[in-house]
Amino acid sequence: MTNFSGKKAIVFGGTSGMGLEIAKLLQQADAEVVTVSRRGALGKGNDNMQNEIADVLDRDALAALFEKHGGFDFLVNTATGGPRAIGPFLEMDLDGFQGSFAKLWGYVNTVRLGAPHMAQDGAIVLLSGYPARKWRPGVLAIATVGNAVEGFVRMAANEIKPIRINAICPGLIDTPMFTQEGEAREQYMNETTKNNLIPRPGKPEEVAPAAMFLLENQFVTGTIVDVDGGAILA
Ligand SMILES: NC(=O)c1ccc[n+]([C@@H]2O[C@H](COP(=O)([O-])OP(=O)(O)OC[C@H]3O[C@@H](n4cnc5c(N)ncnc54)[C@H](OP(=O)(O)O)[C@@H]3O)[C@@H](O)[C@H]2O)c1
Repeated sequence: MTNFSGKKAIVFGGTSGMGLEIAKLLQQADAEVVTVSRRGALGKGNDNMQNEIADVLDRDALAALFEKHGGFDFLVNTATGGPRAIGPFLEMDLDGFQGSFAKLWGYVNTVRLGAPHMAQDGAIVLLSGYPARKWRPGVLAIATVGNAVEGFVRMAANEIKPIRINAICPGLIDTPMFTQEGEAREQYMNETTKNNLIPRPGKPEEVAPAAMFLLENQFVTGTIVDVDGGAILA
């Protein structure tokens, strides 16, 4: 098992939602944490971490960032990347469908440019999402991206070994990614999860420990861990 003390973690998307909770757990485990996002620290308990500003789609900025933090141990990427296309496939704007892949390119960029700067016993965690393996109306673009993320993780594991790479597949998690407020938010969350084996949205705090497991356990690579409240099986 890995001891996090004295290790350095870069968490893309570490200023909100699941990334923020993962960053907090890493810090509690005594790792040095650097969060990276486009807007910087948002005053949500991460002000005492190093916060870098970069867009995961900006390869020059990423190259400079990895150069600066060379020799780091853990790379976590939870960045949403950009807008996501939602709606019936046969009515979907194809630029929107294609644009949803910003998430994949952000992940690929950070792994491709980051891995050469990592410790050889380091580890990477990415996030896919339950639509990858559970059909729901309107989410085919997101589903396709999620499948691409999971396929990338499985196949990249061979290419970047001995560095390990794994993904978490979250179910619906109550995070700032969803912009609805009040009753509309509650209704969306409850309606979307009501048929799951665990019929409620998850919390970012319920996902973050899975990242710690994947970073810590040196016998796990190329794997997807589902933390979805039974959404895929329902
Ligand atoms: N929440 C869910 O129900 C759910 C379910 C399945 C999968 N997922 C996936 O899980 C991941 C995390 O979701 P979340 O709900 O935790 O999202 P969130 O709360 O919206 O956080 C997203 C984070 O990514 C950063 N970010 C977004 N685009 C970026 C970019 N281009 N470059 C750098 N940083 C960027 C954001 O900061 P800035 O905006 O300041 O850049 C923020 O820190 C996403 O990939 C999402 O697709 C979420």
